[in-house]
Amino acid sequence: MISKRLKEETTPHHNKAEEGNFNTEIRQGTLSVEQYALFLQRNYWLNRLVEEHYGTLSDEQKAELKEFDIQARIKSHLILEDLKKLDTTLSGNNMPYPDLAFEELVGAIYVTEGSSLGGHMIHKALQKNSELADKDAFSFLGFYGDKTGLYWKKFIEALEGYYAAHTEDEDKIIEGAKKAFDYFIDVTKATKLN
Ligand code: HEM
Repeated sequence: MISKRLKEETTPHHNKAEEGNFNTEIRQGTLSVEQYALFLQRNYWLNRLVEEHYGTLSDEQKAELKEFDIQARIKSHLILEDLKKLDTTLSGNNMPYPDLAFEELVGAIYVTEGSSLGGHMIHKALQKNSELADKDAFSFLGFYGDKTGLYWKKFIEALEGYYAAHTEDEDKIIEGAKKAFDYFIDVTKATKLN
């Protein structure tokens, strides 16, 4: 199963992504507005990587990804709404997007969709953080809400279905996931708070 291999091979990447992203503060309820805004911005760039790339595909390529229902999963605009509620705007970053081949995009989508699992848990934790709860800037983290598990299940079905028809793409899918994680980790490093 490609999903099993993706999880196994990107666990070290996940750990790094978590490390630089206020894991302790999130769990302890001490995440500040400034830290949360930065966390959202990093997620914005990751999601834009996937969404912009998807936008460049031909109709034929989009049809190949039909089962992933990408249009229903587009969420970067929600981060912009959340940033407004936090009285902040998006800053740029210096990291160029990695080149992604079409097959690699599938692996990158695994990263953005998988991040909604942690995101769901983070949403619950942040709702208990009174400073942040007052701002109600959770449209991105709360997007799938109670349906988070369902969205993930459907994503995995689409992924395994795609893989079954394109087993020759296996290494590229894994590579795409690593590139997306590495991009997020690089953006994290490039946007540290003083
Ligand atoms: C502090 C930050 C984060 C925490 C606490 C966190 C936590 C988690 C947790 C608990 C899961 C497993 C959920 C489950 O199995 O039901 C998960 C899955 C996942 N997360 Fe994160 N996460 C964080 C950040 C991220 C980021 C930034 C990314 C992407 C760049 C990411 C990508 C993923 C992926 C791809 C999975 C799916 C793994 C799989 O089952 O194949 N996570 N995360």
